[in-house]
Amino acid sequence: MTDKPFLTDVQELRRRARQHIEEGAVTDAYRGDRETVIKLLNEALATEIVCTLRYRRHYFMASGIHSQSVADEFLEHSNQEQEHADKIAERIRQLGGAPDFNPEGLLSRSHAQYTEGSSLIDMIKEDLIAERIAIESYLEMIRFFGENDPTSRRVLESVLAQEEEHADDMASLLTTFVDAART
Ligand SMILES: [Fe+2]
Ligand SMILES: [Fe+2]
Repeated sequence: MTDKPFLTDVQELRRRARQHIEEGAVTDAYRGDRETVIKLLNEALATEIVCTLRYRRHYFMASGIHSQSVADEFLEHSNQEQEHADKIAERIRQLGGAPDFNPEGLLSRSHAQYTEGSSLIDMIKEDLIAERIAIESYLEMIRFFGENDPTSRRVLESVLAQEEEHADDMASLLTTFVDAART
């Protein structure tokens, strides 16, 4: 056994923290490819903004149709997508990047689509598709972040968990409506 501590000693850690104070939350131990991580997070941000808008439109369009409970579900999801966008934007700032809120090119940065949907069933289907796309691409990003950027990974994991709930909600609504249409 040597007396050398397993972790870099505290003094050294503090010195480096002071030295790179302008880099904010990112320290020398950060192993992620920062530029790529920020780019991916901006794509996730665009995805969340598009999902916020799509659910928002569906909320207003559905209120005119018979089902208030579906409309309420759309509104709840829209608000949650907005929260996801904020979380992701915050992480981009922590990494020293700039969250991209530019409406121009938003759809091409987004992994999910903005589809209006004409009937209530169409809207639910489009939302389910968008959720499934978001789930797939977040899973890929999470794998990429891996151990190199555990914080970005955790942020996205918490978002992913809620997207899975959203997909589940849309899938059960769809079943309810398809069953109702049959009888
Ligand atoms: Fe989301
Ligand atoms: Fe979602």
